Amino acid sequence: MNILITGAAGFIGSNFMYYMKEKHPDDMLIALDKLTYAGNLKNLKGMEDYPNYKFIKGDISDRAFIYKLFEDEKPDVVINFAAESHVDRSTVDPESFMNANVVGVGVLLDACRIYGIKRFHQVSTDEVYGDLPLDRPDLFFTEDTPLHASSPYSACKASADLLALSYLRTFNVPVSITRCSNNYGAYQFPEKLIPLMIANAVNDKKLPVYGNGLNVRDWLYVGDHCSAIELVAFKGKVGEVYNVGGHNERTNLEIIRTILKETGKGEDLITYVTDRPGHDRRYAIDPAKIMRDLGWEPTVKVEEGLKETIKWYLDNRSWWEEIISGEYQNYYDEMYGKYRK
Ligand code: NAD
Ligand code: DAU
Repeated sequence: MNILITGAAGFIGSNFMYYMKEKHPDDMLIALDKLTYAGNLKNLKGMEDYPNYKFIKGDISDRAFIYKLFEDEKPDVVINFAAESHVDRSTVDPESFMNANVVGVGVLLDACRIYGIKRFHQVSTDEVYGDLPLDRPDLFFTEDTPLHASSPYSACKASADLLALSYLRTFNVPVSITRCSNNYGAYQFPEKLIPLMIANAVNDKKLPVYGNGLNVRDWLYVGDHCSAIELVAFKGKVGEVYNVGGHNERTNLEIIRTILKETGKGEDLITYVTDRPGHDRRYAIDPAKIMRDLGWEPTVKVEEGLKETIKWYLDNRSWWEEIISGEYQNYYDEMYGKYRK
């Protein structure tokens, strides 16, 4: 089989490539990525000697390029990770999210419709459901929770989900969708909460907490997300949505305090800054469907996974130091200077 994995040079995409290399040794893995600021070929270094692997640079919203790629590579399965993924960036530049996360998905679906495909799997997010109140710990997102996205990022991801399901109904394109909660692990770009706080703590820089730090996220180790995607894309039912999460809810302050403890730094580094506009309060996934129907189970507990992740960032300083010393520094100064104090 030829498996096209888009957004493969990003955080989850690259982890998924390594997962697939072990799990599908006889299949051809075609990695596609535009290599935006978030895409990094260093994340795929460990794939380079693997014979059933090739990397192609390109944009999923470039119709001519995608059609040519389908003609040349004849993918049997497409797994779409490619997206603009950072909520904060979507509050200052929504258009790039519309292009990658909506138009790009539409182009991929058209290619699947025209050239034929066994499965198109869309990697979606729990953010399409909006948020839950902090004082109702009994509430969880199920696959039937209405879509109620809060940010341009999540609205674009919700649009892509609807587009994918419409291509099944109208054109019979075999699609499936996973909606996962917050991931953490190796190769996460240091603009996201966990790697940003690790890098700042190590460098004795202030840790910028939005609002009061009591927003809740439901953390899942990236490897557990990869196993869920593989399961759904190859064994899940066409047309179904599966929520993915491991019941690991933590406030942002709880996560930050763990990072400070593990890096041997003090709480004086914590600084409260202007809140994110429209900041979602709480995410919490009910993963009963994927566990029941496909036998999926998360394997890593958040305490253990977080320690491993912090260790990875400490052992791989050059990976993130190279990023934060480049163009990223301008983003950081803008985001944490102009937009929030
Ligand atoms: P990321 O930003 O680290 O990686 C995204 C990758 O997509 C980058 O390599 C980037 O270069 C590439 N890309 C962006 N636009 C592209 C385009 N137009 N054409 C081709 N490639 C393009 O993001 P991530 O955290 O790895 O997220 C991957 C996917 O998983 C996204 O679709 C995201 O919505 C979804 N997701 C993420 C999380 C999370 O916690 N990180 C949770 C649930 C779902
Ligand atoms: O839930 C899945 C989503 O998780 C994915 O769809 C997104 O692609 C991914 O980026 C992530 O979105 P979040 O907005 O939850 O992640 P982020 O790491 O940006 O922020 C996590 C929490 O930490 C959130 O409540 C905002 C807060 N935060 C974040 C940053 C970057 C801070 O307090 N300070 C910060 O500097």
